[in-house]
Amino acid sequence: MANVTVIGAQWGDEGKGKIVDWLAARADAVVRFQGGHNAGHTLVVGEKVYKLSLLPSGIVTGTLSIIGNGVVLDPWHLKAEIEKLEGQGVVINTENFAIAENCPLILSVHRELDVMREAAAGSGKIGTTGRGIGPAYEDKVGRRAIRVCDLAHLDALEAQLDRLCAHHDALRAGFGQPPVDREALLNELREIAPSVLQYAQPVWKRLNSVKKAGARILFEGAQGVLLDVDHGTYPFVTSSNTVSGTAASGSGLGPSATGFVLGIVKAYTTRVGSGPFPTELEDETGQRLGERGHEFGTVTGRKRRCGWFDAVLVRQSCAISGVTGIALTKVDVLDGLEKVKICTGYRLNGKVLDYFPAHAADQANVEPIYEEMDGWQGTTAGARSWADLPAQAIKYIQRVQELIETPVALVSTSPEREDTILVRDPFAD
Ligand code: IMP
Repeated sequence: MANVTVIGAQWGDEGKGKIVDWLAARADAVVRFQGGHNAGHTLVVGEKVYKLSLLPSGIVTGTLSIIGNGVVLDPWHLKAEIEKLEGQGVVINTENFAIAENCPLILSVHRELDVMREAAAGSGKIGTTGRGIGPAYEDKVGRRAIRVCDLAHLDALEAQLDRLCAHHDALRAGFGQPPVDREALLNELREIAPSVLQYAQPVWKRLNSVKKAGARILFEGAQGVLLDVDHGTYPFVTSSNTVSGTAASGSGLGPSATGFVLGIVKAYTTRVGSGPFPTELEDETGQRLGERGHEFGTVTGRKRRCGWFDAVLVRQSCAISGVTGIALTKVDVLDGLEKVKICTGYRLNGKVLDYFPAHAADQANVEPIYEEMDGWQGTTAGARSWADLPAQAIKYIQRVQELIETPVALVSTSPEREDTILVRDPFAD
């Protein structure tokens, strides 16, 4: 089990960036397998801060970094992100970076549709990142996507453009927008094609050969299980499968390659955008968590909603994603609180539930059942061993582990790479 799959076990923003970076330093290849540039990963390496949305985190350390077929790729964003990182001294070339040739593209029509739909949705608004993710996935499944490999055959795009435009022109007419300008779209694609094509290849083949050669592969998930299009808080979800199983289909390796599944879990809960959030705190404590945790979206800058740790949700995420062990992050944000609460079940229509129901109205109406614990004084920030933690903080972590029925593999105690308590090395399994 030499490979590791990292996924978020809540609504994203669990602190995956640092953990992935920490693991990437020991991996031979890092693979993104779903989502797009809606993700936001902040990596702090020494004095330098890198902000990634689309590129795999391994890129910063020069590790082979791969964008798998399960990702939706905005070529203009890709170019800008590469240029930004190169400006920070990161080397990106065809040796250390590859894009799946069967990866669908996010086009301007997708971005426009995302924004128009959200504006028209009123109270049904999802609160998307506005980056065209949903519409691009719809076109992939609707068999009208333009993919990376098409960029090498732009003169033979007629039939695909017919399919794409027939769909989008009808939608655009409904929004009072002019039809797609096919010529402008083709010109845009012609201009951007070389920037993408230089990295395009059958990555399933490259991954299978590095795997055969004994490489340690790190699969880097984006968003979180509760935003999964099947298992999340539908319809307030993203449009991809964010669970660990997608690492296989979104990269072109079989399910046995996923290895140790590391679920990233924040010591409290946050969510950006609309949708149910049973333990949300709209009071001073919620405000305090947001301020101490710097809870603002990396991609959109939106303020994140904050609340107590929800053990029911995380237990469910860990079960659905087959999590082997968790990395618990941001415990230090709870430092100094007199009391801390953990949600251990829900009440719904007089019944007690030990799981999160599927129906949106039930999800909105469940009332959390809390267990209250004493908080801790002193700080957990920067701790590198259990001995550095206040006893009550250890009790909290142990209780979390018990309630989610999944062991703690790592505890991250600051954004710095080395501020980590290692209980079980995922790569050593
Ligand atoms: P979309 O992925 O842009 O379609 O947005 C759908 C939902 O997923 C919205 O609630 C977004 O706020 C949320 N979302 C998408 N990407 C992330 C992420 O990386 N972290 C947290 N939330 C995200």
